[in-house]
Amino acid sequence: MLDEARRDYRVVYHFNINNLEWTKIILEKCNELNVPVILGVSEGAIKYMGGYHVVASLVRSLILDLNIQNDVCLHLDHGSSFESCQKAIDAGFTSVMIDASKLSFEENIMTTKNVVDYAHQHNVTVEAELGHVGGMEDDVKSTIKLADFDECVRFVKKTNIDSFAPAIGTVHGIYKGELNIDYDLIKRLREKVSTPLVMHGGSGLDHSILKKAILCGIAKINVNSDIQATWYEEVKKFVNENPDVYDPRKVIMAGKDAMRKFIEEKINILN
Ligand code: 13P
Repeated sequence: MLDEARRDYRVVYHFNINNLEWTKIILEKCNELNVPVILGVSEGAIKYMGGYHVVASLVRSLILDLNIQNDVCLHLDHGSSFESCQKAIDAGFTSVMIDASKLSFEENIMTTKNVVDYAHQHNVTVEAELGHVGGMEDDVKSTIKLADFDECVRFVKKTNIDSFAPAIGTVHGIYKGELNIDYDLIKRLREKVSTPLVMHGGSGLDHSILKKAILCGIAKINVNSDIQATWYEEVKKFVNENPDVYDPRKVIMAGKDAMRKFIEEKINILN
């Protein structure tokens, strides 16, 4: 799905999931819109839901029972070690990210290569990161370590990864400070390597920014915080307006329509 998106200057969204309800809402909406989707699951969310097998079975079962026809990828988000990626692969994830970006360049290559070897034997794709995509604590101006072009090219060639997340100036979570995305780096990489490029930290960005990044060559955009905030705003409103309702299905699902609208708006930004 990412190779096609790359070829056509389009994008596949990675939405993070946390529970049954979110998985169901995202699957149904993307199926309705007839677009492929990547369900990203962090190690924290996996732990929260019960484990790698729970997540893989949940997604597989929902696809079956809801008769989901669009392409779905189940992806480990920010796998922190070979072992974590191995567990995801063994449980049936179809894609993993190994995030060894905190290690040295050579160590990042070695760790990533080990994951690629194991994953490819199991028909699973691998994403890896280079440079530093900041966290919420970072001021975007001062602490982001942008990926270096030549290192990016070497990294992709040496590791044989299937998708690549270079630090391009985005951060995870809510932005502090002034945003400075390196569109030129995206364009040059899009021309130089055939590996699809990934943007982490897709929240808090205007649609014009996302669109520009896609037209420069980003083929996958990861979105987590924005969809959480969208859900939470509605749930908060519901709880305030309905203080006597305690059925968890009603509380959790109060955010459903807003999430569906959010997904549709993101999918439509290129239209
Ligand atoms: P946001 O929380 O900023 O959307 O980032 C999500 C992400 O990049 C997950 O890998």
